[in-house]
Amino acid sequence: MNSTPSNSAESSRNLKAGTKHAPSLPDFFTRYHDRIDEALRAELDGLEPAIYDIHRYYMGWQEIDGSDSMLTGGKRMRPTLAMLAADAVGGDLDRATPIAVALEYVHNFSLIHDDIEDMDRVRHHRPTVWTIWGEPAAIVSGNAMLKIADAAAWKLRSAGVDEAVALEAQAELTSHYLKMMEGQYLDISFETEESVTVDQYLDMIERKTGALIEASIYLGSLVAPRSGPVRRKAAALKAIGNDIGRIFQIRDDVLGVWGGEETGKPVGADIKRKKKALPAVHVLSTSTGATAERLRQIFRTKDDLEEEDVNVVLEEMEILGTQDYCQAMAEQRWGNCKRMIESLELSGTTAGEFTELGEFLLVRDS
Ligand code: IPE
Ligand code: IPE
Ligand code: MG
Ligand code: MG
Repeated sequence: MNSTPSNSAESSRNLKAGTKHAPSLPDFFTRYHDRIDEALRAELDGLEPAIYDIHRYYMGWQEIDGSDSMLTGGKRMRPTLAMLAADAVGGDLDRATPIAVALEYVHNFSLIHDDIEDMDRVRHHRPTVWTIWGEPAAIVSGNAMLKIADAAAWKLRSAGVDEAVALEAQAELTSHYLKMMEGQYLDISFETEESVTVDQYLDMIERKTGALIEASIYLGSLVAPRSGPVRRKAAALKAIGNDIGRIFQIRDDVLGVWGGEETGKPVGADIKRKKKALPAVHVLSTSTGATAERLRQIFRTKDDLEEEDVNVVLEEMEILGTQDYCQAMAEQRWGNCKRMIESLELSGTTAGEFTELGEFLLVRDS
């Protein structure tokens, strides 16, 4: 563990450089971009009621007033992973497209609600749905988006997937997004818990984030093969998805504390809101003596933390090497995952691309 004591709040706020600088998304994201974008937009085509304008806004295609947006939404990581997994088993991308679309809509539904739950006012550098249209509209538009996702998944059949496999994939999708909701509930309830162990934290992130990422890689590989599922490979890819999900969320937690403008969200918000993300779990469970008591007191407050208290927490994290601890945990998981990727016979260039993804997730800054 690296410990560089510092009294400067400024230096406590820095994201350490990692192994690369300002990494961009791996190239394979571009390969699937147009297919995914087209299929996502098609799901809302012809839907007139204004509720869908909220969806078009959140997906990044429209401004608040309904005019076209020049921005992009998120990274589209989940549908991209479903496509990569489909290619990894030598499958047919058309067959995997409905589930890829469904996964991205489930994800965006979860974010519309997550922004209410976390009281976040900004995402992707834009105001969140609840701050523009109010909480009731954000709740119902989120619910409707989940149904858009379910409707997309029903199209597996018309994309050529056998009935039995389509049903299995839909059931898996549902059970994975239910798991995501279980994780969201745990995450919310941890805000008022005084102590959360690393194991409790890992269980929570495996649900809230890992479940959907695991589903993306698993379901893409399950539905894509023309002559039906290749079970052994799909199971191995599911395990890879589980590792990738964990790595993704740990880095997200690092960005939640030390990330900059690039994240598109306010910096330091996680600490302010007393979120039991990995940095907070680490600092609360590792500090000792009077500092430990002070931190417990700070986190006991009913309201959001004041700037001064946020700085106390940040400085103790700096002293305890919290950022390095989090990063090391992600890297350790990546070691296992990389070995698994190398042991599988994945099609074409996909083994190298999964590796590129893992290495990107360890150092991403947005
Ligand atoms: C953010 O996920 C929410 C989490 C599950 C941590 P992403 O970072 O993939 O979000 P977008 O889609 O790129 O906005
Ligand atoms: C979001 O987790 C996870 C889900 C919406 C399921 P976070 O609350 O940690 O993610 P960000 O930081 O807001 O993107
Ligand atoms: Mg959030
Ligand atoms: Mg949240």
